[in-house]
Amino acid sequence: MLYDNLSVNEAGHLVFAGYDTTDLAARYGTALMLLDESAIRNRCRTYRNAMAEHLPAGSMPLYASKALSFKRMYEIMKEEGMGIDVVSSGELNTAVRAGFPLEKAFFHGNGKTDFDISFAMEHGMGYFVCDNADELDAIEAEAARRGIKQKILLRLTPGIDPHTHAKINTGRIDSKFGAAIETGQAEELVVMALNKEHVQLCGYHCHIGSQIFEHEPFCDAAVLMLKFVADIKQWHDYVPQYLNLGGGMGVPYIHTDPKIDYAANIANIGKLIRKTCAELGLEPPAILMEPGRSIVADAGMTLYSVTSIKKIPGFKNYAAINGGMTDNPRYTLYQSAYTVLPANRMQDEADFVCTIAGCCCESGDLIQEDVSLPEPKRGDLIAVLTTGAYNYSMASNYNRVPRPPVVMIGENGPYVAVRRESLDDISSYDM
Ligand code: LLP
Repeated sequence: MLYDNLSVNEAGHLVFAGYDTTDLAARYGTALMLLDESAIRNRCRTYRNAMAEHLPAGSMPLYASKALSFKRMYEIMKEEGMGIDVVSSGELNTAVRAGFPLEKAFFHGNGKTDFDISFAMEHGMGYFVCDNADELDAIEAEAARRGIKQKILLRLTPGIDPHTHAKINTGRIDSKFGAAIETGQAEELVVMALNKEHVQLCGYHCHIGSQIFEHEPFCDAAVLMLKFVADIKQWHDYVPQYLNLGGGMGVPYIHTDPKIDYAANIANIGKLIRKTCAELGLEPPAILMEPGRSIVADAGMTLYSVTSIKKIPGFKNYAAINGGMTDNPRYTLYQSAYTVLPANRMQDEADFVCTIAGCCCESGDLIQEDVSLPEPKRGDLIAVLTTGAYNYSMASNYNRVPRPPVVMIGENGPYVAVRRESLDDISSYDM
C-alpha cells in the first residue's frame, strides 16, 4: 500500500485510518472527502521537530493553508503550534473564526486590495509578505492611517533556473510574484521598505515551486537568498530576522514517486545554511518554511460511487463516478497522476483497464486514465488517494454540482469537519 494508514480487511474492503471505507461511504454518502487527522498532526510534528533541531533558533513551519482551508484545519494548526500563511481575506477570515493567533500568520499574494490590507490590519495581522512597490505603498498608507508599525517580509524571486530543476517555476525572474534579485528590483524594494515609517522590515521570502522531490533546489535558493542577505548587509547595513524559504516539498501520489524524508531534507538545508552563513560572515537568520501539500496531501482520500460503465470496443472503457473536476480539478488542469483503488473489491483481479470519468458536461472532466480495476459495476466504490491538498481547496460548483463533505478521522472516530453542500446552498446567493 502507498501509505501506512491503508490496509485491506477480510471482506476485501479498503481500510483508511482504521475505518472500513464501505462503512464510511454508507454513513456519510459519496462523493466523500476523508482526512486522517493524526497523519496531518504527525507531519506538522515532523516539520516542527526537524526545524527546531536542524535550523537556527526561532525557525518555524507555517502551514500554507491554500492547500486545504476550513476552520478545523486552523484549529489543528493552532494546537500543533504551527504558524500559517494565508493568501486571501477569505482564508484569513476562516483562520480568525477558528481563533488562530494572527501574530503567527503571514499574508501572501501578489494582488492584495485596499480591503484585504485594511481587513488584515483590523484583525492584527502578524506579517504581510509584501509582493511589490505598489503594495508596499498601500501597506504604509494604511498603517499610517491606523498609527501602527506593520511587520512585513518582502517576496523576492531568486531566479532559480527551471531547466535544471524541471518542476520549479514560481521563483523565476519573469514570475508574477515578487521582486527579482538579478534585476536589482529586490534591492530597490528593500531600500523603499527601510525608508517607510510605518513598516518594519523583518526579512525576505522566496518560493521556488511545488511538488519538488529533491532537497537541492531548496539549498540553491537558500544560498542565493543568503548571498542577498550578505549584500544588503554590506550595502545598507540591514540584517533580517527571518528568511522564509517557502513551501514545495513533494508527496508520492503513485508507487513510482519517491518517498520523501522531510526531516532529512531539513537537516541538509540546515547544514548548508550554517556553512554558507559562516562563509559569508553572517549570523544565521531564523528560517521559515511554508509546507502545504506535504502537510495534508497524503492525509486525504476521496471516495466516489460508480454510476456507469461504458465500453467502446476497439477504443477504450470508461467508469463514470459521482464527482470529478468539481471536487478534483487536478487531472484536468495538470494531468496529475493519482492512485485509484476499487475500495469495496480490493481482492478481486484488476483486469479491466478504464478511464475514470467525472460527472460534468465536459469531455476533459477525467480523474485518471488507463487505470486497472476489477470491472466495476454501478454502485461500486472507487477510492482516489492523496487528495488532501489542492482538491477541496480548488473545488467548484461547475454544473451546480454540490461540494462533498469533509470527514476527519479523529482520535475518537470520524466527524464531519465540513458538511455536504446542498442543492439549495448553491442557489442561495441568487437574488
Ligand atoms: N508558499 C507559497 C508562497 C506558495 O505559493 C505555495 C504554493 C506554498 C507556500 C505551498 O507549497 P506546497 O508546499 O503546497 O508545495 N494548485 C497546485 C499547487 C499550487 C501551489 C501554489 N503555491 C496543485 O494542485 O498542484
